[in-house]
Amino acid sequence: LPSDRVVTVTQGTDINVAREAGRALAAELGFGASERVLIATAISEVARNIVEFAGSGEVELATLRRGTITGISIIARDRGPGIDDVEAAMRDGFTTGSGLGLGLPGSRRLMDEFEITSGPGDGTTVTMRKWLR
Ligand SMILES: Nc1ncnc2c1ncn2[C@@H]1O[C@H](COP(=O)(O)OP(=O)(O)O)[C@@H](O)[C@H]1O
Ligand SMILES: [Mg+2]
Repeated sequence: LPSDRVVTVTQGTDINVAREAGRALAAELGFGASERVLIATAISEVARNIVEFAGSGEVELATLRRGTITGISIIARDRGPGIDDVEAAMRDGFTTGSGLGLGLPGSRRLMDEFEITSGPGDGTTVTMRKWLR
C-alpha cells in the first residue's frame, strides 16, 4: 500500500510522525477508531523508547496479508545499547529511565503479536502485529 513507510526517529517530534503515519495506515486498512488508538499508542511507546534509550532508529509500518486476513506490522529498530535483561524489561513497572515502565508490556497487550530481540551492544528490534477482524 502507498501508506507503508519507514519513519526515521531521532527526536521527540518524530514520535508524533510515526504515530500519525501508523494511524493513517491503520485507517486505510480498515481498523476501527478504538483499534487505531491502540495501534497509535503502541507505536508511540516503541518510538519513545528509541529516542530515550537508543538516540536514533526507525519505525517501519507495513501492510500484512496472511491468506485473506489483513494486518498491520510495526517494526521499531535501533542500533543503540540494547537491553541487558529483556525478560525484566517486559515486566510492568521495570524502568531504567524516568518513565512508568509500562511501554513495552503495555504495547504487548495492545497488539496481537509482539516480539523483541535485544542484547547489550546489539541494538533493539521490536516487531508488533495486529490483525483486522
Ligand atoms: N530501544 C531500547 N533500547 C535500549 N533499552 C530499551 C529500549 N526500549 C526499552 N528499553 C529498556 O526497557 C525498559 C522498559 O521500557 P518501557 O517498558 O518502555 O518503560 P520506560 O520507557 O517507562 O522505562 C527501559 O527502561 C529501558 O531500560
Ligand atoms: Mg518506554
